[in-house]
Amino acid sequence: MPAHSSSQFDVGISRRRLIKHIVAGTAVSSVLGRPWLASLIADCTPVQAGAGILRVKLSEFPALQNDGGAVRLSLNPFVASSTSVTPFYPVLINRVAAGNFVGLSSRCTHMGCVVSAYDEGSGGCLCQCHGSLFAIDGRRLSGPANSALTKYRLFFDGVDQLCIEIPGLGFSVTPSVADSPVGPRIRLQFAARRNVNYEIHYRKSISEAGIVVTFSKTQDGTATETVLTPTSNGTATIFVDRPDGSGFYSVSIQTLEE
Ligand code: FES
Repeated sequence: MPAHSSSQFDVGISRRRLIKHIVAGTAVSSVLGRPWLASLIADCTPVQAGAGILRVKLSEFPALQNDGGAVRLSLNPFVASSTSVTPFYPVLINRVAAGNFVGLSSRCTHMGCVVSAYDEGSGGCLCQCHGSLFAIDGRRLSGPANSALTKYRLFFDGVDQLCIEIPGLGFSVTPSVADSPVGPRIRLQFAARRNVNYEIHYRKSISEAGIVVTFSKTQDGTATETVLTPTSNGTATIFVDRPDGSGFYSVSIQTLEE
């Protein structure tokens, strides 16, 4: 993940879990009237309109250090082996060989259950609903599914970073000035999805690492919240304090390694 990602280790469970994030919302300049229309990092600009980019640092995932290694990153809560509760299915990242990675949707092409991460022992990515099995590159191997898993466009910088382009995940963020008795603020509005965890990141210049900033859901409330989890689809409106006249805000989606 990029330097501006946050991570959290949750020991005490059998598998390591990491909170990551996708920079999905277009970054906006706090100098209003100059919306930052490009993606945050030029070499990861989505090719498809509306796509979001999941950035993954290989060094943060021991499972991806070896051929046949795999991780599954969820973009939102879901019930294992059932269909996803939001439009975003977990993303499978498999290492086929050194420098050869694939990014796949975990949506089973039979009836939409969430397939497991690739496992050499079980011979592939297994769907536990009706037993479909998919190869490390997403090809259908057996079972009632009759087509391959959806493969995402993936870029590898040859060193440590993967960029995985996920259709439909991107969205724009609309900024505006908000006068508030608590001080200068910026209102950020974006199309939010139910059950997805959003964070707001701030960076003083585009080349700096971003930090998670607190926000308020009301114009005059104290900015103490760090995660927004809408209960329904619709336009989200949040307010961030504006420390000075420069900098960039972006909206990120938390992801979880399972
Ligand atoms: S939904 Fe995956 S095999 Fe049926």
